Amino acid sequence: MDIDTSVPSPARMYDYYLGGKDHFASDRRAAEEIYTQIPDLPEVARDNRAFLRRAVRALADAGIRQFIDVGTGLPTQGSVHEIAQAIDPASRIVYVDNDPIVLAHARALLTSAPEGATAYIDADLRKPEEIFDHPDVRALIDLDQPVGLLMVAVLHFITDEEDPRRLLSRYRSRLAPGSHIALAHATKEDRPPEAVQKMTDVYRRASAPFNFRTREQILSFFDGTDLVEPGLVHCPDWRREPGTRPSRSAGWNFAGVGALPATAL
Ligand SMILES: C[S@@+](CC[C@H](N)C(=O)[O-])C[C@H]1O[C@@H](n2cnc3c(N)ncnc32)[C@H](O)[C@@H]1O
Repeated sequence: MDIDTSVPSPARMYDYYLGGKDHFASDRRAAEEIYTQIPDLPEVARDNRAFLRRAVRALADAGIRQFIDVGTGLPTQGSVHEIAQAIDPASRIVYVDNDPIVLAHARALLTSAPEGATAYIDADLRKPEEIFDHPDVRALIDLDQPVGLLMVAVLHFITDEEDPRRLLSRYRSRLAPGSHIALAHATKEDRPPEAVQKMTDVYRRASAPFNFRTREQILSFFDGTDLVEPGLVHCPDWRREPGTRPSRSAGWNFAGVGALPATAL
């Protein structure tokens, strides 16, 4: 497997923001350069991860028992299977990522998972058909039943030319009614232009570019779904746990969960 340590990778940079240990000098340099403009970035990453955990818990509480987590990232505390299988040990999870370092750590990611209920596939989110038709997905996920599709902090690595909105419609076309899509995405709305520019410039030198979007663009990714409460809000505000303080990081990511309407009988 080819891991190019000289080119920063989004997965390893995110691991650095979160205080993990799977990053190289190029990732740390890139991250530190962004911190000159966005010193709160580690908090933004933690808030994003906390949204993912709350969303998975909400979906599991609502009865979803199968999840596809696209853009998994490196193993960190509170992985999707840990949350979903704590609620129902029979929950099934497929992780999807295209970064070789995530693949290298997939074994570690899966050690706490019961065999046969969790899988990792090395695939690109720009090819939804390859994901849905992958043997491990077919073995674990019943596409006639509702699925929790997670696209958390990953679509901003897809360019406008690659058309994330159209991509999502291809995902929706494969999901059963009652499925849910949980999505978080970076925004440039009301953000300091120099900070947006710095982040964009640094990721231009990384293995995937970073594409900030407006709230309206992010909202369009939920086409064909009904947004559940509280709608599309800043990450830390999505069903914030009672007693927790508003985060200073609010403003960099919008997050929401959309439900595919159940068909009328
Ligand atoms: C910022 S991390 C987010 C991790 C996790 N979803 C979370 O929110 O905590 C983005 C992840 O998406 C993965 N990724 C980026 N582009 C991808 C693509 N085209 N296909 C699959 N995974 C991709 C990266 O490798 C990285 O692990």
